[in-house]
Amino acid sequence: MAVQINPSILSADFARLADEAKAVEGADWLHVDVMDNHFVPNLTLGVPVVESVARATDTPLDCHLMIEAPDRWAPQYVEAGASSVTFHVEAAAAPVRLAREIRAKGARASMALKPATPIEPYEDLLPELDMLLIMTVEPGFGGQAFLDIMLPKIRRTRELISKHGLELWLQVDGGVSASTIERCADAGADVFVAGSAVYGANDPAEAVRALRTQAETATAQASWACDH
Ligand code: DX5
Ligand code: ZN
Repeated sequence: MAVQINPSILSADFARLADEAKAVEGADWLHVDVMDNHFVPNLTLGVPVVESVARATDTPLDCHLMIEAPDRWAPQYVEAGASSVTFHVEAAAAPVRLAREIRAKGARASMALKPATPIEPYEDLLPELDMLLIMTVEPGFGGQAFLDIMLPKIRRTRELISKHGLELWLQVDGGVSASTIERCADAGADVFVAGSAVYGANDPAEAVRALRTQAETATAQASWACDH
């Protein structure tokens, strides 16, 4: 699967979201961080804003729900126009049922793991998902330092994907930048969320291109990609 770069609008200017979406044209997805001030200690945006952003851009929306009770709320984000919806397994009451509901409504279903949540208990769930998100910071804020200690989990997850022959995308989110993206790609990630590294750059579209080039080069040299 080709490398994908998903800029996170958490680091964009929330008063100019339509312009900020256009500023990263060429990105694969727009990553939208939904926070409820309960699952994480921060509050961002909800369904009405997602509806407006979906209308304002042709780039598909990758909604990352950092919220309690995703079983109740996630389907509404599909209806709002998200093409991919990620819920946190730590918050979901019935992750299999929820993933099936997201897919049935027509979006890609994705499940996220906080840094302290292991992948191994969820091996049997992977066929139910289109993407797995491994958080490489504690969720809640942009601009945090990348957690290198997550690299073994990325590697083990890539091994599980290969072992089962799945078409599962492996996303990383948090502290992904020019200085960390190659390590993520080498470990097995293929979808890269970047907030401050894109919107903090003078030219966000150029930052996306540069990150893509770095990730593609690192993937071409990675042992996990050679097996395919
Ligand atoms: C953090 C969010 C991220 C955030 C990443 O909880 O899920 O998507 O925007 O920001 P950076 O890339 O600046 O670490
Ligand atoms: Zn995110």
